[in-house]
Amino acid sequence: MNVLVTGGCGFIGSNLVKYLRKNRPAWKLVNLDKLTYAGNLENLKELEGDANHVFVRGDIGNRELVDHLIRTHKIDAIAHLAAESHVDRSILGPEAFITTNVLGTNVLLEAARHAKISRFLMVSTDEVYGSLGPTGLFTETTPLDPSSPYSSSKASSDLISLAYAHTFGLDVVVTRCSNNYGPYQFPEKLIPLMVANALNDKPLPVYGDGTNVRDWLHVEDHCAALTLALEKGKKGEVYNIGGNSERQNIQLVKAILAAVGKPESLIKYVTDRPGHDKRYAIDASKIKRELGWAPSFVFEQALQQTVEWYVKNRPWWERIVSGAYKNYFDTQYASRLGS
Ligand code: NAD
Ligand code: DAU
Repeated sequence: MNVLVTGGCGFIGSNLVKYLRKNRPAWKLVNLDKLTYAGNLENLKELEGDANHVFVRGDIGNRELVDHLIRTHKIDAIAHLAAESHVDRSILGPEAFITTNVLGTNVLLEAARHAKISRFLMVSTDEVYGSLGPTGLFTETTPLDPSSPYSSSKASSDLISLAYAHTFGLDVVVTRCSNNYGPYQFPEKLIPLMVANALNDKPLPVYGDGTNVRDWLHVEDHCAALTLALEKGKKGEVYNIGGNSERQNIQLVKAILAAVGKPESLIKYVTDRPGHDKRYAIDASKIKRELGWAPSFVFEQALQQTVEWYVKNRPWWERIVSGAYKNYFDTQYASRLGS
């Protein structure tokens, strides 16, 4: 099978590309990635010289390029991960989120429809459901109620993808996953940011009172679920993916500090994220029952391993936080930290 993977140089995309090369070695992967701030070819350096991985730098919004890739590489399926993915950045500037997540997705769908692609996997997010109170879980029939520019752009692309299945018969499958953790996550996201700051003895900015809850899933478990959805998902269906590992942010931050041997005095409660969703929690029984997926990582142990990965791979994230993207980290946190 020939698969066009979009966003294959980002956090989940690069883990997925490596997962597929290992677990589906006969598949040819064409990786279309714009290399925005979040895309990094270094994430894929172990695949250098691999004939079954073709990297193409480009924008999913470039229809001519997408058509060309589908034709030249005889693409059978598209796994669509490319996106602007960070909620805080969507609050600073929503435009790129609409351009890539909404319009870019539509370009891919149109190209897939005209080329009669046999499977379009739309990698969506649990954030499309909005926020939960203290109890309950998101199921696939929970009404969509996104709160941020990021999540509303994802909800749009999620619904447009489903509309292509209903209206045009395109073989679309949508997945909605909870928060991922693991190696190669851009250090603007909670876990790698907290590890990086702790190791640099910088304050750890916890939004609000730190009691917001996320349901954590190891990225490799997500990749296994995406592979099953790509292969066995039913046309027009949505599958929730989650790790059943709810944690308050503050619990997680304290666990990270303990793992790196740094004091809790580094924690700094800062101004909350505007519109901050309180709690996410996933009911993943459908994908377990229908596609036979089950997470294999145990949260506490896998969090330790993840922290160790960032400790060992310090140059990977240090180049980001103190190099090319220093300005983002300085300005984003200066106001929150009151400096
Ligand atoms: P990421 O920000 O780490 O990576 C995004 C990748 O997309 C980057 O490599 C970037 O260069 C590329 N990209 C961005 N705009 C592009 C464009 N116009 N054309 C081509 N490439 C472009 O994101 P991630 O955390 O790996 O998330 C991947 C996908 O999974 C996203 O669709 C996201 O919404 C979804 N998701 C993420 C999580 C999570 O916890 N990180 C959870 C559920 C769903
Ligand atoms: O739920 C899936 C989503 O998870 C994905 O769709 C998004 O692409 C991904 O970025 C992630 O969104 P979150 O907003 O939940 O992730 P983030 O790592 O930004 O924040 C996790 C929690 O930690 C959230 O409650 C906000 C809080 N936080 C985050 C940062 C960056 C802090 O308290 N301090 C911080 O500095």
